[in-house]
Amino acid sequence: MTLQPGRRLPGADFHARRSRAGCRTYFYPDPFLPGGMPTLEVRGLKKSIDGHEVLKDVSFGLQDGELAAILGPSGGGKTTLFRCILGELTPQAGQILIDGQEVGQLPTERRGIGIVYQSFALFPHLSVADNIGYGLRARKAPAGIARGRIAEMVDLVHLEGKENRLPHELSGGERQRVALARALCVNPKILLLDEAFGSLDATMRTQVVQEVRSIIRQQKVTTLFITHDQEEAFMFARRLIVLNDGRIVASGSPESMMKHPDLFIQDFMKMVLFAEASVQMGPDGLPYITLDGGAQIPVHIPGVRGGEKVHVMVKKGAEAERIEVWHGDAR
Ligand SMILES: Nc1ncnc2c1ncn2[C@@H]1O[C@H](COP(=O)(O)OP(=O)(O)OP(=O)(O)O)[C@@H](O)[C@H]1O
Ligand SMILES: [Mg+2]
Repeated sequence: MTLQPGRRLPGADFHARRSRAGCRTYFYPDPFLPGGMPTLEVRGLKKSIDGHEVLKDVSFGLQDGELAAILGPSGGGKTTLFRCILGELTPQAGQILIDGQEVGQLPTERRGIGIVYQSFALFPHLSVADNIGYGLRARKAPAGIARGRIAEMVDLVHLEGKENRLPHELSGGERQRVALARALCVNPKILLLDEAFGSLDATMRTQVVQEVRSIIRQQKVTTLFITHDQEEAFMFARRLIVLNDGRIVASGSPESMMKHPDLFIQDFMKMVLFAEASVQMGPDGLPYITLDGGAQIPVHIPGVRGGEKVHVMVKKGAEAERIEVWHGDAR
């Protein structure tokens, strides 16, 4: 079939993209994926390091604006996958497509990826504003445009008034938001977070995960979140992709993971329970939910109303159970 620029083929929802002035490439959507072209697609990725097959055959796709978590045990290949998507490692086989374009030959900075690392990797001698604007300066954006965009990002991550502080003058959660703003500032096609909450202490983590998630949802950027922590994955994403021993062993909602027949997944999930619940209002006017078995758990979500759906997670530790309740949404 011949493709002609500027004409829609009957029945084919194809995407046209200009790579250079006057030069167009056409991409057809993957017929197996509903809802159009995935923004990130990984096909048959294989990577060996020192003769050890770290990624054996990894394939998955993320739709435009989707937020998914790659979840798996330590040593399963998550960071290796992350580094292949970034272009820091070259896979032996397979393809990585971002917005329909094969990026195998492109250097990291031309792949359109925003990154948030576990360590946040902020420049210690640069202010909040200069950290956020780093990517714009590297791309030689005009000063006026850069200032406007940095101000927009400072607002987005609620750091107004702290633009001139240095990273060591911020809390862990604030540093995390600077790293996020820096990644989003250059308008990436996809956002990658590798163990991005791992360095925060447990008491502030739920709140930071929810804040970061809500900012990402607001920006509608396609996001892949990499973690070994079931709890973080459940809180962050409505789609989990489980990577174990270099292969994707399951993909689906947190609910489907709880019921998955695979023994490895059952074992990996056994310390966490995930459910949806409806908020009730007590006679004292305070919101709560009722768990199976009758336990009533207070809900600490500002402004939450009776009848609203929330997500609940119970993590069984060696000595105590931890229960988290947070707002759910469609994906
Ligand atoms: N540079 C390297 N040289 C040799 N082996 C490596 C190298 N990088 C990773 N590996 C091996 O590849 C496997 C997967 O490592 P990877 O860092 O991708 O795991 P991970 O899923 O990110 O683990 P974690 O949750 O601990 O971060 C491990 O067995 C690791 O020892
Ligand atoms: Mg890792």
